[in-house]
Amino acid sequence: MRAALMATIVPLADIDPALIEQLLDRAFEPERRQRTAYKIREGTDWLPGLSFAALDDEDYLAGTIQTWPVALTDADGRAHPMLMVGPVAVVPEMQGEGIGKALMVAMLSALDPRASLPQVMIGDPEYYGRFFGFSAEPTQGWLLPGPYDPRRLLVRCDNPSVLPREGVLGPWRK
Ligand SMILES: CC(C)(COP(=O)(O)OP(=O)(O)OC[C@H]1O[C@@H](n2cnc3c(N)ncnc32)[C@H](O)[C@@H]1OP(=O)(O)O)[C@@H](O)C(=O)NCCC(=O)NCCS
Repeated sequence: MRAALMATIVPLADIDPALIEQLLDRAFEPERRQRTAYKIREGTDWLPGLSFAALDDEDYLAGTIQTWPVALTDADGRAHPMLMVGPVAVVPEMQGEGIGKALMVAMLSALDPRASLPQVMIGDPEYYGRFFGFSAEPTQGWLLPGPYDPRRLLVRCDNPSVLPREGVLGPWRK
């Protein structure tokens, strides 16, 4: 049996930005900034109300989740606001202890149920589909500003039938 989860979830805004970058460098390859996910949210800031950190029992940073304002622009030029989730990152030595799930639950619980926007992410369907109901099926006609694996472009929303079948995903521009 695994040890009980010894992580505390706090707002990401409480964490030194330099520590967040260090953690992301450890969880991902150094070229992470070239990823298409970074281009989708270029020029936006993560949303403090939907971004969290996990601290271990000695208060060291063990994981982070960030959520960004993006939009899917349909063929008529209409921008459909969405939330882009990611990266979700857990330090290598604490992976598989439930911290990723705890970060996702914190983010999903903070969504406003009265006006919940579709949540989009690029991630493993085996993880985000299995535990949180994300699906690549509605996204297959969407275009991104860079290369990606279509089976990893995932979305979760209350009513998938309202999602445009086609569109271009990019930053939310005010
Ligand atoms: C992916 C990640 C966020 C998951 O967080 P975690 O704290 O390690 O995972 P959890 O403890 O919450 O979940 C564990 C379960 O998920 C499964 N799992 C973990 N990562 C998985 C993956 N990439 N694909 C499929 N299943 C996965 C485990 O097998 C385990 O399943 P079990 O409960 O049946 O044993 C974390 O491993 C990580 O940071 N990885 C490196 C960065 C990355 O690839 N991020 C995803 C892209 S945004």
